[in-house]
Amino acid sequence: MQIPVAWRLPPAGCLQSPAPGLAKEIRPAYNGGGKKKEDAPCFCTAQGGKKGDNMRKMAVLLLAALALLLGGCAGRPAEPEAGSIVVGFSQLGAESSWRIANTESVRAAAEKYGFGLMMENANQKQEKQIDALRSFIAYRVDVIVFSPIVETGWHNVLTEARQAGIPVILVDRMIEGEDDLYTAYIGADFYAEGRRAGEYLIRKADAEGMTSVRIAEICGTPDSTPMRDRQRGFRDALAGDERFRILESVNGDFLQSKGEECMAALLDKYGRDGIDVIYSHNDSMTLGALDVMEKNGIAPGKEILVITVDGEKEAVNALKAGRINCVVQCTPDLGGDLMRLVQDLKAGKEIPRVTHPAEGAFTDLDDLDDPSVVGF
Ligand code: AHR
Repeated sequence: MQIPVAWRLPPAGCLQSPAPGLAKEIRPAYNGGGKKKEDAPCFCTAQGGKKGDNMRKMAVLLLAALALLLGGCAGRPAEPEAGSIVVGFSQLGAESSWRIANTESVRAAAEKYGFGLMMENANQKQEKQIDALRSFIAYRVDVIVFSPIVETGWHNVLTEARQAGIPVILVDRMIEGEDDLYTAYIGADFYAEGRRAGEYLIRKADAEGMTSVRIAEICGTPDSTPMRDRQRGFRDALAGDERFRILESVNGDFLQSKGEECMAALLDKYGRDGIDVIYSHNDSMTLGALDVMEKNGIAPGKEILVITVDGEKEAVNALKAGRINCVVQCTPDLGGDLMRLVQDLKAGKEIPRVTHPAEGAFTDLDDLDDPSVVGF
């Protein structure tokens, strides 16, 4: 039987109106919208027993199937399977090709493992992520998985998840502190990525005999883990080397359109001869910046060195074409390892607190004809 996957779960109200009986059954102790801390749900999973638990899952799966129909998702037949694991996944948005590939990786892995998946896209809004987590708590999913858009502001909702006895796994991004409010983290080592970017630049400067290097940094979403750690790692790698000067760090929010805006503003401010290197925190922003450079008659990769992070196909092709100098890898393919963690956790096994995928960097100082140099 196929477990339904509900992408863009409608708000709880939408689900309740066509199926009031069901909604009532699975939300026995939920005190409404859960907007305030006092409204925290008070579930007692131990009371349900195996039969109650299976009924709950059946209800959750039926709701997921309904969400699928009501939410206008195409195609997938909804055949609920009682007793299977239900994962609530709050994705932070669809801001980049990386994010879209990551969403697909999680969806495909849930299907492969035969788990029910309730997915909610927060469209870059923390409030929407918090609402999604509260919905998952209300529906009593087995495990909550989420990619926090920023590192702070999660204490209340994660406390509610803990009170409801639902374990939380962070995927892709971390939160600040709150160590006891999540079970595990799976995602990149963003600090190492930032260091790789800096280490490449040192090699490049050595190879080209560069003595004074002016860098402009286009950053991802403020206060997000990749933004913070890619910045810190890069600075730490260059620290103490007097050749390098960071002119300015600007916010491009991981969006291609903002990458364009940032590049245009940087060129206005420093002029085409005033910048030696663009260090951009993701490929989407980089591709936007490349367009602007080229429209201004600047040859990226030659007149201005370009260092980017992610490794999507278009960026790796641009590297091979000499328009980018270094692509630091960040894999979006986290779904398989994530679902294995979910399975082990539910089987009562101990799971690692932190899992980082293996990553490296592709650069113009290495052999770009090597078959391993491919994008996602
Ligand atoms: O958190 C991972 C980052 O988020 C990726 O580098 C970026 O493309 C995405 O938007």
